[in-house]
Amino acid sequence: MFPTPLPMVTPAKCGAMPSKVSCLYLLTVVCWASALWYLSVSRPSSYIGPMSFQVRKATKNSTISNIRARSLNPHDFGYLINEAKKCETEPPFLVILISTTHKEFDARQAIRETWGDETTFPDVRVVTLFLLGRSTDAVLNQMLEQESQIFHDIVVEDFIDSYHNLTLKTLMGMRWVATFCAKAQYVLKTDSDIFVNMENLIYNLLKPTTKPRRRYFTGYVINGGPIRDMRSKWYMPRDLYPDSKYPPFCSGTGYIFSADVAELIYGISLHTRLLHLEDVYVGVCLRKLGIHPFQNSGFNHWKMAYSLCRYRRVVTVHQISPEEMHRIWNDMTSKKHLKC
Ligand SMILES: *[C@@H]1O[C@H](CO)[C@@H](O)[C@H](O)[C@H]1NC(C)=O
Ligand SMILES: *[C@@H]1O[C@H](CO)[C@@H](O)[C@H](O)[C@H]1NC(C)=O
Repeated sequence: MFPTPLPMVTPAKCGAMPSKVSCLYLLTVVCWASALWYLSVSRPSSYIGPMSFQVRKATKNSTISNIRARSLNPHDFGYLINEAKKCETEPPFLVILISTTHKEFDARQAIRETWGDETTFPDVRVVTLFLLGRSTDAVLNQMLEQESQIFHDIVVEDFIDSYHNLTLKTLMGMRWVATFCAKAQYVLKTDSDIFVNMENLIYNLLKPTTKPRRRYFTGYVINGGPIRDMRSKWYMPRDLYPDSKYPPFCSGTGYIFSADVAELIYGISLHTRLLHLEDVYVGVCLRKLGIHPFQNSGFNHWKMAYSLCRYRRVVTVHQISPEEMHRIWNDMTSKKHLKC
């Protein structure tokens, strides 16, 4: 299903082998096995009879599970809460994935009542989902369960919800789109303290009436390198990422991509060593996929003081509290007739 026939064997894994010779041997065997698997699944099937077709299917199944078992990052957590039917009736134009934590109820509610409201645009179908892991506090999990039964906009996978596991949350979103909403056109991945100017995003950037893009990725592009200062929030250990530069990546505060990219990133992530900085990690996956994120000046990585005319031009603004979100939304919707 995922076009990544070559599982990577890390030097770390090889180091555990008794000698360099057996390490090379292992690499060769793995490469051959993957090549054979790749050939077996990419061969045109028109000339294969029903008998051999069944055989081929079984082989493919067992090989995929083998490769998954060997993969560096087998992201296969179960769903504790899911909304598997959100996209069943009609594929949405836009799926909004919002990384959030259990205690941020106010922020979720503010988003539901403002820019995340799925019913704002009668002509464009939008699906809004909040992404979480499992809390170590049973009461918080229960409260979330109740919230989910009321709003049906929460997805939870069975990993520990923590800042260090943020990348898992992003991958869970990619996996959810690939599994339950592959026919959507675009995905917005953002955080719970972001204001999104949906009108600008939908009508000026994505343009529902134009031909859907593929392999499309945009946001606030950062060209940077690892911070080696251990006190930094963005500290990256040298042994985890030795290079002095990151590939171009979009700030995790908000990025947009065509829905086909979700499956590509999820697929390649199974064979890509995890990094705890989720936006950097997505950049690493994009580089492997040969997809170039492009810069869009409407995505604001930092906070920006509110003014009607200024906010009409943005796509996202960072560091907005639930109260500010309501105020901005009310002001913008009540002053639609005003010219700037
Ligand atoms: C593929 O493998 C899974 C789990 O190993 C099994 O449940 C499923 O029935 C298999 N599918 C086919 C087509 O053999
Ligand atoms: C991340 O989640 C995994 C799976 O639940 C867990 O084993 C691990 O401890 C978590 N890491 C952190 C830093 O919370």
